[in-house]
This record gives sequence, C-alpha cells and structure tokens, in this order.
Amino acid sequence: MKKQRLAVFASGTGSNFEAMMREDDLASDIRLLISDVKDAPVLRKAKELGVETSVFLREDYESNVLFEQAMMQKLRSLAIDWIFLAGYMRLLGPTLIKAYPEKIVNIHPSLLPEFPGLDAIKQAIDAGALKTGVTIHFVDEGMDTGQVIAQEEIIIHEKDTYETVKQNVQQIEHQLYPTVIRQLIK
Ligand code: GRF
Repeated sequence: MKKQRLAVFASGTGSNFEAMMREDDLASDIRLLISDVKDAPVLRKAKELGVETSVFLREDYESNVLFEQAMMQKLRSLAIDWIFLAGYMRLLGPTLIKAYPEKIVNIHPSLLPEFPGLDAIKQAIDAGALKTGVTIHFVDEGMDTGQVIAQEEIIIHEKDTYETVKQNVQQIEHQLYPTVIRQLIK
C-alpha cells in the first residue's frame, strides 16, 4: 500500500502532535500542521520539528465554505490522505468532511458520548464522575458525535484534582493516538 500522507489540525499546545512526532514511522508521514490560531504554541513545535505549517484564520474568509475550501486547496496540493485533529477547537463543515469520508479522526478527553464539547475533564470532575477517559472517533458534523474507534478509561479517585486527572488523560492520549493512527493508516 502506498505511504499515507497525514495532516494534523491543532489550535493549542500540541502535546498530542509531539507524541505523534516521537514515533519515527508517523513522523515521516506527517506532511502538514494546520492551525486556526496564529500564535498557537503547536506552530513553533512543528517548525522546530521540520513540519510544514499553514495557518488559516476564520476571520479572513467570508464563509465557512470559503474557509474550508482554502484549506482543501492546501491539503490537495500536498496530496493529504488523512486528517488527524489534535486539539483543533473548531467544528468541521461539509466541505472538508465530504472530501475526506472516514479519513478525519479526532481525539477527545472523555468517554464519549459522555462529556462532549469544551473542557471535558472539568465536566467529568464537576459531575462527580467516578471514571473518565479518552475517545478516538471519526469526525462528522456534530460536536464529538462521530463513530467511536477506540476508548480507554481512567478511574477518578477521591484524592484526584483537575491537574492529576489531566495528567492521567494526557498519558493515555499520548500512547493511544499514535497506536490507533498506525492501525488506521496501515
Ligand atoms: C487533548 O486533550 C485532546 O483530547 C483535545 O484537546 C487536547 C489537546 O491537547 N481534543 P494538546 O494541544 O495536544 O496538548
């Protein structure tokens, strides 16, 4: 099978992007990092790691369709096969989703369908949940609603704080996402 060409979309810190880049086989497949935030820390990390970056700001476009068409042009120019969202804080629309059927994947810090949307770790703690976890799923037009690919749970103990739960979630994310990506693209 031909070598797959991956793009990562991220708006923030980029610890998941870094975790992917620590795996040599994935690092050689990641051809592009797209961000919708012009000074996102992940951009600096990508540059340091020699990954091409592109910033698309929603406010530069008159509509979501034009915004996503501009991204499509970039993705096509690099013959990107797969899109992996890693802390990309924007819903995708039909322009991208229809162009990449079952080829766009997201990672979310809860056991979906529980706690979709923003700050899922805080939602779980505030709800007094006894467990939470990580979900990797295909992306559809809903908020964290696409078909689940993989999940891993963690227990929330009484002594846990937001910080300790976040650390546990991240530890799982950083090993689960590369593993699942490898399985998907092979
Ligand atoms: C992760 O918790 C991921 O599950 C969520 O956004 C966060 C991104 O973190 N979608 P990072 O930027 O990869 O550190």
